[in-house]
Amino acid sequence: MIAAMTHPALDFVIAALEKIRESNNRLPRVSMRALAQLQAEHPARASLREAGTSLTERRLHPSLEKAELLEPIRQRVCACTKCAHLACSRTQTVFGVGNPDADLMFIGEAPGVDEDQQGEPFVGRAGQLLTRILKAMNFAREEVYIANILKCRPDTPPGSFGNRAPTPTEMQTCRPYLVEQIDVIQPRVLVALGAVAVEGLLGMRGTMRELRGRWHAYNGIPLMITYHPAYLLRNQAPSEKRKVWEDMLQVLERLERPITERQRNYFL
Ligand code: URA
Ligand code: URA
Repeated sequence: MIAAMTHPALDFVIAALEKIRESNNRLPRVSMRALAQLQAEHPARASLREAGTSLTERRLHPSLEKAELLEPIRQRVCACTKCAHLACSRTQTVFGVGNPDADLMFIGEAPGVDEDQQGEPFVGRAGQLLTRILKAMNFAREEVYIANILKCRPDTPPGSFGNRAPTPTEMQTCRPYLVEQIDVIQPRVLVALGAVAVEGLLGMRGTMRELRGRWHAYNGIPLMITYHPAYLLRNQAPSEKRKVWEDMLQVLERLERPITERQRNYFL
């Protein structure tokens, strides 16, 4: 839409932005993407930069800005019907939860039955284990950001139990929302929980044995891959818990968080 804008239309937009700025005594909000696009296409329009908000200015109130930037994405997710079958079967969409200015962001697979009911990711059994892992890392749930590849619960046949994994098509369809969330939050470290989350994020299939425990990258952001907490619930061997914990110790080191001797020796 912006690309097709004629210059008189652009003048009209600038005038409207200036009016908002004057009447509210604050800068109007535009998405980073729209602003960058406008500036790239009309570099000579200095007034555009003044009328809008610059990337430097948004650093003054980063979490407020980020919360405001996430809101329109949330609203689009809420109204999304791209996967008609999921839009029909869901109780509600599950956008994401936590600190919009988080240093650390976790990416799961898809809402399960509990998340679909409550509208929040990772609140069921696997989620409670994730919350305990966070506590052991000395993080409150509210300090980090948690989201899934899919914002809808994968539908299951009536009367069946449990959850199913998202399909590659469902993940491709929903992935752009997660990409936008990461673009806004810009965490210092990403953690992908399980092979399905990795496939959804990187489009790469692999076994956990070859993927976990080492640094990957998504869009320049360091990405740690570890087991999904649901795997730890199925496989209670201390050796598996220890692997996840070692991955989380690497995350703490990367974030330059202090690590106690007790934390080093944990098995969860
Ligand atoms: N498993 C996930 O991958 N995500 C959730 O939100 C809950 C369980
Ligand atoms: N299952 C686990 O894997 N860890 C716990 O702390 C509790 C249950």
